Amino acid sequence: MCGIVGYTGENQAAPILLDGLKRLEYRGYDSAGLAVRDGDALAEVVKATGKLYHLADKTDQGRSLPGNCGIGHTRWATHGDPSLINAHPHVSGNCSGSGSGKVESDVVGVHNGIIENYGELKEKLLRHGYLFYSDTDTEVVVKLVDYYYKKYKIGPVDAITRTMVRVRGSYALALMFKDHPGEIFAARKDSPLIIGTAENAAFLASDVPAILKYTRSVYYIGNLQVARLSPGSVKFYDLNGDEITLPLTEITWDAEAAEKGGYEHFMLKEIHEQPAAVRDTLGSLIKDGKIDLTAAGITDDILLSLSQIIITACGSAWHVGIAAQYVIEDMAKVPVRVELASEFRYRSLPMSKNILVIVISQSGETADSLAALRLAKEKGAETLAVVNVVGSTIAREADHVLYTLAGPEIAVATTKAYSAQLVALDALAVQMALVKGTVSAEQYSHLIEELIGIPDKITRVLEDKERLQWFSSKIANAHDIFFIGRGLDYAISLEGSLKMKEISYIHSEAYAAGELKHGTISLIEKNTLVIGVLTQSQMIEKTISNMAECKSRGAYLMGVTTNGNFAGEDSVNFTVYIPRTDEHFVSSLAVVPLQLLGYYTSVNRGLDVDKPRNLAKSVTVE
Ligand code: F6R
Repeated sequence: MCGIVGYTGENQAAPILLDGLKRLEYRGYDSAGLAVRDGDALAEVVKATGKLYHLADKTDQGRSLPGNCGIGHTRWATHGDPSLINAHPHVSGNCSGSGSGKVESDVVGVHNGIIENYGELKEKLLRHGYLFYSDTDTEVVVKLVDYYYKKYKIGPVDAITRTMVRVRGSYALALMFKDHPGEIFAARKDSPLIIGTAENAAFLASDVPAILKYTRSVYYIGNLQVARLSPGSVKFYDLNGDEITLPLTEITWDAEAAEKGGYEHFMLKEIHEQPAAVRDTLGSLIKDGKIDLTAAGITDDILLSLSQIIITACGSAWHVGIAAQYVIEDMAKVPVRVELASEFRYRSLPMSKNILVIVISQSGETADSLAALRLAKEKGAETLAVVNVVGSTIAREADHVLYTLAGPEIAVATTKAYSAQLVALDALAVQMALVKGTVSAEQYSHLIEELIGIPDKITRVLEDKERLQWFSSKIANAHDIFFIGRGLDYAISLEGSLKMKEISYIHSEAYAAGELKHGTISLIEKNTLVIGVLTQSQMIEKTISNMAECKSRGAYLMGVTTNGNFAGEDSVNFTVYIPRTDEHFVSSLAVVPLQLLGYYTSVNRGLDVDKPRNLAKSVTVE
């Protein structure tokens, strides 16, 4: 999983490429590189390990690299270490170094994705005299293109399509050919890639924000399609090499939306954008006081016919599934299974048309979620994608798509997309309950009113952030944190714990409160922080008892609960109160203090909040 960019036009390419890569750094940040051509001159390749600023420093912010046509890459290592040699771009020539400097090669390229049969292709190329300097699958693809280009004496498009037929796996590729100055060739399968066009310029990128400063006119290139970019012109081809036409999309959201907007970190900005993300998502699903899912292709007839729901996703999106399971089962009385997408294929789950498989994904590109979607379709289930990124692979391949309207999410740790997913699934539960006759018309209207009230209540929770900032400074040196809750409170504990550990690097675990005493309680010692989520009235007392069990073993307690009489006030050391709402929807409020706690703890520990170590925003490898 990596980010790629390309530019050809009248301006100096390198600064534009660096600017685009900066906006794609969330996709990977262990090394980066550029290849730029100045007219007919050979391409010059510059690479740097570590974060993007090293590459920017090395090239004087791009100014030292002349030329109006180039490609760039920011890497998250899959094949081979995060080293200079493995950093992209890669070249087709048999060079001795890492492919840096002025390159004699006929082909130079960058790649996002994974080539599964790269070993076998490498063998073939070695037999034909190619030498390899890196451990990457990308170098293999670049050399394979070169091989076909020379062997059949064909043009770049045909050499690329021949390569596409031969490789297995996923790719977004951008290539420059020595004989074609001013042109960039791109190809895509199962990895994100968009092509932008402007007067006398053309762009490519893994994601829209990378080029939004320069153009709003974008093509979503399809699977197994090729693009040929030259200044002011873009042509598309299918796998046969025949020219095809693609629709041009005008991006309506603002580039500002992808900037920090005055906040210190994207994560904090995105936490504050949750009222809007939730309001916009609900606004697209609720019309005239009724939930309308027809834009997502989910009719009342489909809902009525369903005998089971299977939700599959990864990470935080999976946590949304766990929360939705409690809500849908309780409200609509329909059984729900929630499966980790990475485990989905190892279960022999029976599928049929009256089972709806819901795949939840912010990026719409998560490899495991995509694989689960494909398997579910293959087995004959009806599929619904709940996705944030428009035009992403999961969105395109599912039978139905419900878009969350969270806007671009840049911080690696998800916040606003999570919240938007949560309310989207809540709305589905409410509509299903109406259709299945498990709620009355009156209850239905009340539930919708409660849903509509959530954004303002999130705003109120955000107003309490200073207290959380203060508390986080006290726990910044914690070694272990346990998040506990029952029912929906357990689902929120899972997300609170992930937020804490992924950005603060403090070990944390989420437990169903009643499960703690079956082993894990032996880890509780003096000053271990135990955070209880206490919003489900039927279960609060029981969870408080579990917290008391921890306290008697030395634990320090924090509670998140709803306004009103809280029985645990005296025993809990620090309590966060959230506004009241229907208990099915309270997760949308309870998660916010836990996000803030993770955020401030990370800041207090001086960590890179938006780009935590070892992670990437979009996990396009299995
Ligand atoms: C955690 C986080 C990840 C993602 C997971 C799925 O903060 O962001 O756990 O939720 O990688 O990603 P998507 O939703 O893009 O499929």
